[in-house]
Order: sequence, then structure tokens, then C-alpha cells
Amino acid sequence: MKRILSGIKPSGELNIGGYSGALSQFVRNQEQFDCFYFIPDLHAITVYQDPKELRQRSRELAALYVAAGIDPKRSAIFLQSQVSAHAELGWLMETQAHFGELSRMTQFKDKSDGKDVVSSALFTYPALMAADILLYQATHVPVGEDQKQHVELTRDLANRFNNRYGETFIVPEPIIQETGARIMGLDDPSSKMSKSNPNVSSYILMLDEPAVIRKKFSRAVTDSDMSVRYDWENKPAVSNLIEIYSVFSDMDIPAVEKHFEGQGYGNFKKEIAEVVISKLEPIQQKFHDIVDSAELDAILRDGAERAAAVANETLTKAKQNMGFLVL
Ligand code: AMP
Ligand code: TRP
Repeated sequence: MKRILSGIKPSGELNIGGYSGALSQFVRNQEQFDCFYFIPDLHAITVYQDPKELRQRSRELAALYVAAGIDPKRSAIFLQSQVSAHAELGWLMETQAHFGELSRMTQFKDKSDGKDVVSSALFTYPALMAADILLYQATHVPVGEDQKQHVELTRDLANRFNNRYGETFIVPEPIIQETGARIMGLDDPSSKMSKSNPNVSSYILMLDEPAVIRKKFSRAVTDSDMSVRYDWENKPAVSNLIEIYSVFSDMDIPAVEKHFEGQGYGNFKKEIAEVVISKLEPIQQKFHDIVDSAELDAILRDGAERAAAVANETLTKAKQNMGFLVL
């Protein structure tokens, strides 16, 4: 059986980069996989989160999962903090990870760069991520490009553990889609689209209103010649917009280029806004219908129960194999 575990941190409002690289894949993959989709709230607190905001964002993200098309009857949707096996296996995996390999994680280097103080959890976080994945015996992990290194570390830790203690975990593979795995900022195609950019026009949020989306795309940077051509080397800004267009229109890249052949940037930017809006509007509507509902609580409770059943079984096996008395 092929199984998926993946999630998106509730540390900021979701932008269309996270939708493109992760959430849209989560929805698509339900056809072929047994899926566990969680909200890694324990990961969010590696940097300070205001408690009220953390609660609100966790709810909002869960509502977005459902609104985007994750079907809670088919896939388990749950909060990481509701399944205590994550924290427990996270500790066990920390004992398997090496200081050196954690020091090489790009995300840690980026996030700690220039800071006087960072939490120790920011450093050990990939061990917890490995635990998340391994608990479910996931065969596949759909993520954006920036998480590939963490999934590779997960594979190393799983192999190390299996070699030391006997077959315990399935060694998972990342799924990274060809288009849209790394959406860049609208203001600068050399940096990832991210909510932490102080320039709000650099990103489109999943809950942005149509007028805001139109304005942000109209401000997006382009490249010097006027053609809508996919060429990351020479035309990164336009190539980024073409990828966004492709993800939101379900057209492939050559089809997008053909569609805009002989046209300048003006019309391209107008159309891309409309394509994004038409995908986001029904998601936003559904989001508002469920975000404060008791139905959402029930979905999360049911998801946590289903998740815990699988996770606890793996945790017990790992503890037993490591030499803990299991009474
Ligand atoms: P995060 O919000 O950092 O938890 O990221 C959630 C998921 O979205 C991860 O799988 C990331 O790789 C993916 N992701 C985040 N930002 C982007 C982006 N700009 N382009 C593509 N994927 C992204
Ligand atoms: N580290 C991921 C991110 O920053 C979130 C995450 C935590 C995750 N645990 C995971 C993703 C397990 C996939 C599988 O985006």
C-alpha cells in the first residue's frame, strides 16, 4: 500500500507558493494514496508564536485543507499536537541524528543567519520531521523543493535506525512536482515567495481578495524583453509567472507560452490574476463556511484518532526494538 504523510506549518498565513508546492499536490494525491495530512503545530513553535495566533492559524489552515479539496472521509486531517507519539518519537530520532548533519540543513542556516539567539528546537527540528513521517510508515512525502533536504535526512535516519535496531521503518521518498515546486517572490525572482518578506506585494495569500490579487500581479516585476517565454536563465521573473499560471490553469508550460504568443506583459499579468482568482474564490468561500464550524472540530478529532492508531503502533515497535521495556 502506498501511503502519504505531509503537512504545512501554521506559522503564517498560507501563500500561493505553499498551495502550489504542497497543498495542490495533497489534493491530487488522494486518488492513489492512503493519506495523512497534518498541521505541524509543534514545528511552528521553533520560533515564538503568539498563543492566540497559533490557535487561530492552526484552525484556518485545517479549514484551508478541507476547502482546497482534501476529503476528510478519505484522508485523515489532524493536528500534530493532538497525537503525542510525534513528540515521543521525535526525541528518539534526535538520538539518531548527528550534530554535523543537522548543522548542514539549509533551512536552519537561513533561519539562524544573523540572529543572536535561536531556539535549540530550530536546530533539532528535522529529527521531529523525520518522526512525523516515519510514524505513519509513509512511502511518499509530497513537499516543495525547500523540504527535499529534510526528507533526504529522514531517509538517512530511517536507514540508520533499521540497521542498528532491525527493520522498523519504511524508507520514504519525496514527491516534488516538476512545475510549481518553488514559486518565487513577485518582487524578486531570486528569493522564494514567503510570508516573511516585508513587502506584502511579493506574495499572494490564499485568502487575499480579488482586488488585492489584481493589484499585486500588476506590480509584479518582469524581465527586459517583452515576450512571454519560459527561460529561467534569462527571464526568471516571467518564468516564475508562467509557472504560477500553469499551476492555477492546469495548462502545461508550452501551452501557456503558446497561449500568450505575440502578446506583451500587460495582458499576461491581467490574465494570470484572473486565473488565480477563479481557483481561489471557491476555496475562500468554502473556507469561510467551515472555519468556525463544529464540523471542523469533528474532522480534526476524528483525524487525530485515526492518526494515533497508526502512530502508536509504530512507536511501540520502535521502542521495543530500541530496548525499552514494553510492558
Ligand atoms: P511551510 O509553510 O514552510 O510549512 O511550507 C509548506 C509546504 O509548502 C512545504 O512543502 C514547502 O516546501 C512548500 N512551499 C513553501 N513555500 C513554497 C514556495 N514558495 N513554492 C513552492 N512550495 C513552497
Ligand atoms: N518542515 C516542513 C516545512 O517547513 C513542515 C513539516 C513538518 C513536514 N513535518 C513534516 C512536511 C513532515 C512533510 C512531512 O514546510
